[in-house]
Order: sequence, then C-alpha cells, then structure tokens
Amino acid sequence: MDNRLDPAETERLLGFGPERRKTRKELCFICFAALIIVCIVIGSISVWASLSYVDSGKRNVILMISDGFGPTSETFARNYKQYVNKLEYNYVTPLDEILVGSSRTRSFDSLITDSAAGATAFSCGIKTYNGAIGVNPKKEPCGNILESAKYLGLATGLVVTSRITDATPASFSAHVIHRNMESDIAVQQIGDNPLGRQVDLIIGGGRCFFLPNHTAGSCRIDERDLVVESKKRGFKFFSTRKEFDDLEPGKNNLPLLGLFTLDDMSYEIDRDPAQEPSLKEMSEKALKLLESATANSDKGFFLMIEGNVAAHINDPATHVHEILAYHDTISFVKKYVDEHPGTVMISVSDHETGGLSLARQVTSEYPEYLWYPEPLTRVKNSSYVLSQLLLNYWQEDRTEYIKGVIRSGLGIEDFEDYAISWLNKNHTQMEYEIFLANMTSFKAQIGWATHGHSAVDVNLYAHGQNTEVLRGNHENTDIGDFITEYLNLDLDFITLKLNKNNNTFHQATDSTHFHVDKFNHHHGIMSDDSKN
Ligand SMILES: *[C@@H]1O[C@H](CO)[C@@H](O)[C@H](O)[C@H]1NC(C)=O
Ligand SMILES: *[C@@H]1O[C@H](CO)[C@@H](O)[C@H](O)[C@H]1NC(C)=O
Ligand SMILES: *[C@@H]1O[C@H](CO)[C@@H](O)[C@H](O)[C@H]1NC(C)=O
Ligand SMILES: *[C@@H]1O[C@H](CO)[C@@H](O)[C@H](O)[C@H]1NC(C)=O
Ligand SMILES: *[C@@H]1O[C@H](CO)[C@@H](O)[C@H](O)[C@H]1NC(C)=O
Ligand SMILES: [Zn+2]
Repeated sequence: MDNRLDPAETERLLGFGPERRKTRKELCFICFAALIIVCIVIGSISVWASLSYVDSGKRNVILMISDGFGPTSETFARNYKQYVNKLEYNYVTPLDEILVGSSRTRSFDSLITDSAAGATAFSCGIKTYNGAIGVNPKKEPCGNILESAKYLGLATGLVVTSRITDATPASFSAHVIHRNMESDIAVQQIGDNPLGRQVDLIIGGGRCFFLPNHTAGSCRIDERDLVVESKKRGFKFFSTRKEFDDLEPGKNNLPLLGLFTLDDMSYEIDRDPAQEPSLKEMSEKALKLLESATANSDKGFFLMIEGNVAAHINDPATHVHEILAYHDTISFVKKYVDEHPGTVMISVSDHETGGLSLARQVTSEYPEYLWYPEPLTRVKNSSYVLSQLLLNYWQEDRTEYIKGVIRSGLGIEDFEDYAISWLNKNHTQMEYEIFLANMTSFKAQIGWATHGHSAVDVNLYAHGQNTEVLRGNHENTDIGDFITEYLNLDLDFITLKLNKNNNTFHQATDSTHFHVDKFNHHHGIMSDDSKN
C-alpha cells in the first residue's frame, strides 16, 4: 500500500482551491499548516539527522547478528543463568543492559523471513524474497554496507560459527539468486566478483566449499581449489587452532581466511577448546587484527559477527549454551566500544526460531505456572552429537547403549520404556535429534511451536555514540540505513558498479549450482528456505 500523501488531496484538505478566497485567518492557518508539513517532511527524510552532529573522527561499526534469537530466548537464558549462578531476580544480562527497541522481521514475500532475506535487509537495507543473497526482488545485485565501507577505505571482516558460505555471512560478501549456491558464494568471497576482494578478514567454518570436488570432505560442485586461489589473491589461509593462536596483530595478517571445520563449527555445548576457539575468542582476535590494520589510517573498520543461535531442532540445552556464548561475546564487544570512542555496536536477530515458549502444559489438567531450568543443567551434549551415536551403534546390547546415552548425555534417569523402544528403531538422524531434544524440553516444561522460524519482532540492542536514534520499533532495513548513515556510505553507487555491465555473475548457470545438503548440518536442516 502506498502511504504517501497525494498532493491534490493534501491541497484539498488544507483548503487550497482555485476558486476559494482566503480570509486573513485562513491564510495564517495555511502558513502554519505548511510550516508543520515542511517540518514533518524534513523530519522524515532525516530520521538519523542527529548523526551528523557527533563526530569523534574514526568510526568503526560492529554488527552482531544473533541468528534465530527471539525475545523469549533472552528471558530463557537470563532465567537459566539466575538458576545456575544463584543470582538475584533483578540480575541483568549483558544484552538486557543495552536494549533499545525491536526489529520487525518480515521479508518482501513472506511474513516469516529466512536468514538470507533477513541478512540482506541489514546488508543492503532492502526487503527481498526469502532465499535471496544480496539481490533485490528483481534478482539484481544490491550494493551492501561491507562493500561500500571497503570502497571508502575501511577494513572489513566477518566472524561466524556457521559455514562462511551460509546465508547470513553470504549476504555481506556475495550476490546470488539463491542461498543454496554456496559454491558460487565461496568464489565471490575470495574476491572473484565484479568488485574484487571485499572482505579482509574471514573466520569461521565451511571449508568444504573451498576444496576441489575430488578431495575428501569437499562439497564443491567443481574442481576449483579456492584455498589455493585465495592464497594467490593474497589471503593468508589457516585451519587450525594453533595457527589461529599464533596470529599476531601488527604482523600484516590481512587479508585472512580462517576456516576451522568443513561444515558449521561445533555447538558451544560440544566444542573442544583445543580444536576450535569460542565466538568470543574469534571476535577478540578479529578486533585486534582490524584495529592494528587500521591503526595508521583515518578510516576504521566494519565487522559483522554472527552467533548461530537458531534452535531448529528445538534442543533447549544446546540453545542456552549458544546464547551464553553470545552473551560472553557481547560483554567483550561492549567493553571494546567503551574503550574505543567512535565505535558503535548493534546486536539484532534476523528472526526468531522455534516459537519458543517458557511454559508447557504437560498434563490435561489445569496448567501449572512454571518451567524448570534444572533438567537443562544435566545435559552434557547436543542432541546432534547424541543422535550420531544412536545412528552408528547397532550391536546386540543396543538397548543398554541407548539407556547409557540418555543417562550420560541428557542426564535423565526416569525415562519411559516407550522412549527406549522408539529410539531402538531405525530412524533418520534428524528424527533422533528431535526426539532427544523433546525429552529435555518436556522435563523442563518448555514449549516449541515449530522447527522453523516465526514472525515475532526481535529485540534490538545497541551501544555507542548515536545509537539512541535506534530507540523504538524498527523495520530490519533501518539497521542497514543506520550503518549507512553512520559510516557515510553510498550503497546506490555500489549497486551501479555491480550492475554496470548487466553482469550475470549472480545467476545460476545450471541446476548443479544448487548445492544439495551433503551434511545433515545441524544449524538448520528443515528445508531449503527455512535454514537458519
Ligand atoms: C568435479 O567437477 C567437474 C567440473 O569442474 C566435473 O566435471 C566432475 O565430474 C566433478 N567430479 C566429481 C567427482 O564430482
Ligand atoms: C558429551 O559430553 C561429555 C562432557 O563434556 C564429553 O566427555 C563427551 O565426550 C561428550 N560425548 C560426545 C559423544 O561428544
Ligand atoms: C536404517 O534405514 C536406512 C534407510 O532405510 C538404511 O539405509 C539403513 O541401512 C538402516 N540401518 C539399519 C541398521 O537397519
Ligand atoms: C515429547 O515428549 C513427551 C513426553 O515423553 C511426549 O508425551 C510427547 O508426545 C513428545 N512430543 C513429541 C513431538 O515427540
Ligand atoms: C541482462 O543479460 C541477460 C543475460 O545475458 C539477459 O537475459 C537480460 O535480458 C539482460 N537484461 C537487461 C536489462 O539488459
Ligand atoms: Zn537466520
């Protein structure tokens, strides 16, 4: 619907008519009304006008995206922390301290967005269709904030725990008509695209899309070796914790491409610190490297950090550990902002996942008003990891084995015979995961509405100068607009560059470009368009 004022209608309402003669009083009123309209128009075209008045020189933006994290997840994590650490009822989490408003998440073509359209709203500042990576509803590439920042001389980085080719980071570093074109996304991320290399620092998972299709663990559609290609393009490449630890600021480490795992990195609850760093550690390293890379420049950096909090499996213990890891990262980044004037951080989600509810009616009698954090404290492993055990053990003592997995993994002793006999049968990995997760949710009396996303507004958090203008209820595209204003970017200019030669680099040339899940990857598995 077009809400703009129709000029003729405006004139009619204000009494401007060709035949009417105006009294002095009327003229006064008209002048006054016109003045008000001018004020309203000026106000609306410069929503972020106050920004231009604050300037402490060098500007950095840290955009933190908690993928799939809804408002209930925040209450959930807060209650859990209070329970585990015996905190007062009025304890505030690092996110609670910087709540400024909410973000509306619908996409161009659906009331429920996917991560691709959700991230493109942030990166390009536009609403687009579900599945779109950095392209508009007409499937044309749109310039994004990272590219524009790079053009202006800022350093740029992406830190994720998912595959770097997954929808959220892809929307800041590639343009393709469908999120499943991950082989093409990887190609663009190392700089093979009309703009050349845009990302200076990449840390995350998803190495499989950088390996030639004939090598073990590859999920590429072709024979290109992007590790070799990225090195030729100047990237320093690493894949181990040791190499990560050895990176030192000031040592000319950028451009940097670090991919620890073939697929998504481990869930926090399963993470082996000797193999994979935490989100906080990766963010800390990224900030050090970007800061030192821009130390002698009057331009700062743009860094996107994604926490993959989406609970598609509805596994509450895994979910809460992801959130706590995200909180740790937030605490660190907040401190960084306090110590670095000119730096702004925003934390927002692309959408909620699961329709999480901190209540569940478990009997047909009158519902009780409670939920129990305690059963979650006994869970040691994600349902993802436990389901793999069940999938791979078919010895004669399988029943005993299943009981062992439930006792040690979920910390549940009083399981029903029904559960054991169900788990004893042959199911898919995802079915096992969902079943195990439900056992914990049931004990904790936590409810879920879907294995996909939901339409609820998500919380908007911000810290740093000028962020007060983010107060209130916003469209997700406002986040992109805010960063554009704050860094003085010009996305239209980048869009023109991308589309100059009617480039078709973002289109699939054949159906094999659509990667079919080789992994049952655990961060989003329900269907093509509802991942993460
Ligand atoms: C690898 O990709 C090439 C195209 O680059 C294709 O011809 C070949 O069949 C693929 N090999 C495998 C094992 O998928
Ligand atoms: C489950 O977690 C425990 C405790 O962290 C760990 O020792 C064990 O190896 C994990 N199991 C699996 C299958 O990863
Ligand atoms: C379980 O079912 C799958 C699919 O039908 C089959 O490939 C697999 O061999 C079965 N596993 C066992 C242990 O029966
Ligand atoms: C979840 O577990 C409860 C308790 O065992 C069971 O009654 C319910 O049917 C399960 N729900 C699903 C979707 O499996
Ligand atoms: C751009 O190029 C494609 C493929 O070459 C062609 O199908 C399309 O019509 C062109 N679009 C415009 C606006 O020229
Ligand atoms: Zn998402």
